[in-house]
Amino acid sequence: MSNEKFKILFVCLGNICRSPAAQAVMQRLVDEHGLTDQFAIDSAGISGYHCGDLPDRRMRVHARPRGYELTHRSRPVERADFEEFDLIIAMDASNASDLRELAATPDEVLKIELIGPYIHHPHYDYVPDPYYEGSEGFELVLDLLEEACNNLLDKLIEKTNKTK
Ligand code: 4NP
Repeated sequence: MSNEKFKILFVCLGNICRSPAAQAVMQRLVDEHGLTDQFAIDSAGISGYHCGDLPDRRMRVHARPRGYELTHRSRPVERADFEEFDLIIAMDASNASDLRELAATPDEVLKIELIGPYIHHPHYDYVPDPYYEGSEGFELVLDLLEEACNNLLDKLIEKTNKTK
């Protein structure tokens, strides 16, 4: 890979449940693959409603037994993110639609991807909002994210190897 880090931003609505979990899952995968210096991973929310907050306590409680400590502080997506990041991954179609509204150029729109194609689940091609759900909702988020991030990283590594 090149000296430039490949920068990925995960985006959900509040940046307190799905996207900070996605950030932690992807960061650990990158670290496990020995690629820590090749990737920069961050997350943000469409809304700034929870700006400065730690991830939702329930998300942290469910993530911890799987070995993820969620320490990200919520922040809203900013215009500068479209220049800063190479890839912006939306957790659902609504997040993707809001991101497209924020994008200023066709190149910025091309940076936005849905997480769906990286999930091979019989019922979900997005990561559902767990905010008003019970424990199963948070476990489902983590299950979907672990699969999606694995598949995403595999694709990025494959792409890099092809361009070498
Ligand atoms: P997230 O979940 O988008 O996965 O962070 C939500 C968090 C907060 C709210 C909605 C969804 N909220 O309405 O405050």
